[in-house]
Amino acid sequence: MKIMLIGFGLVGQGLLQLLHDKAESLQAEQGFTPKIVAVATGSRGILYHPDGLSIPALLAAKGNPAAYKLDAERDFASALELIQCKEADVVIEVTPTNLENPAKATAHCQAAIASKKHLITANKGPIAKHYNELMSAAKSAGVEIRFEATVMAGTPCIAMGRELLSGAKIHEARGIVNGTTNYILTQMESGLSYESALKQAQELGYAETDPTADVEGWDAAAKVLILLAAFFGKQAQLSDLSVTGITGISQADIENAKAAGERYKLIASVSPEGGSVKPMRLPLSDPLAQVSGATNAISFNTDVMGNISLIGKGAGAGETGFALLADLLTIHRKLF
Ligand code: HSE
Repeated sequence: MKIMLIGFGLVGQGLLQLLHDKAESLQAEQGFTPKIVAVATGSRGILYHPDGLSIPALLAAKGNPAAYKLDAERDFASALELIQCKEADVVIEVTPTNLENPAKATAHCQAAIASKKHLITANKGPIAKHYNELMSAAKSAGVEIRFEATVMAGTPCIAMGRELLSGAKIHEARGIVNGTTNYILTQMESGLSYESALKQAQELGYAETDPTADVEGWDAAAKVLILLAAFFGKQAQLSDLSVTGITGISQADIENAKAAGERYKLIASVSPEGGSVKPMRLPLSDPLAQVSGATNAISFNTDVMGNISLIGKGAGAGETGFALLADLLTIHRKLF
């Protein structure tokens, strides 16, 4: 399977590390032999080799194509040109998320589909804003789009709602889908200040490049748009959602909730009627109240199966890289 990696940040490197560490078992157990034919960045250059770049050398380059020590073609005007003119089976779009203006990332996705390459993305912007358009283009082109990494990282909530529960009616799904805010709320409950907790979340790599998107609820809101599209085929806009983040919650609020046997959680909800993001005081008996740190969770309320909950890691380079690997393997099973 020939793969182009568009974006060479921590998530892309997380995937490469998994491909490196698991190379033998993926080959032996699933006949999966990935070749990374290209790696592209916005401002630090592009690498291409039709026979595949060396994964150890890419890992050693730590996100900087200029530090890749082996032979490669480097002479491309842009990632877009690379996608349009070189061959690959799959494009993985992992450029930084920009929720307000995902035009560049969306153009990468459109170019992948138009050139009949399967698309996997961890980028929330294009899926949140252009799901219907991308899906219909992919259908006409006969290619797959997978986006497990966009919500709850490698904890498979998209596959669960979209595929495994496709025979059930999902009445509603409620979740903790932002690791940064859950980490901050958990640390504040242990007495840490908001500022120190946010700084830790940034150092641990959970927060977005601009953490305002996390703490004001916009990252969770983008995930709500993705879940509405994935579970209910409903394309909504951020302006359709009611969104409140955690910046209005004080240390005193947290202490008061604690004294009453409750916990603040930033809850994202989706149903066929729409979605919302808001902080809620949950009793400790609520399973979502027990989810701490950067852990994410989602509870589906369904017709046939009642409630089904999924709890797991929702942020981090390796964890998000794992979602990309899961999507690669799903495409590999279907097509190779
Ligand atoms: N900033 C996000 C979070 C990363 O904290 O959950 C994963 O999408």
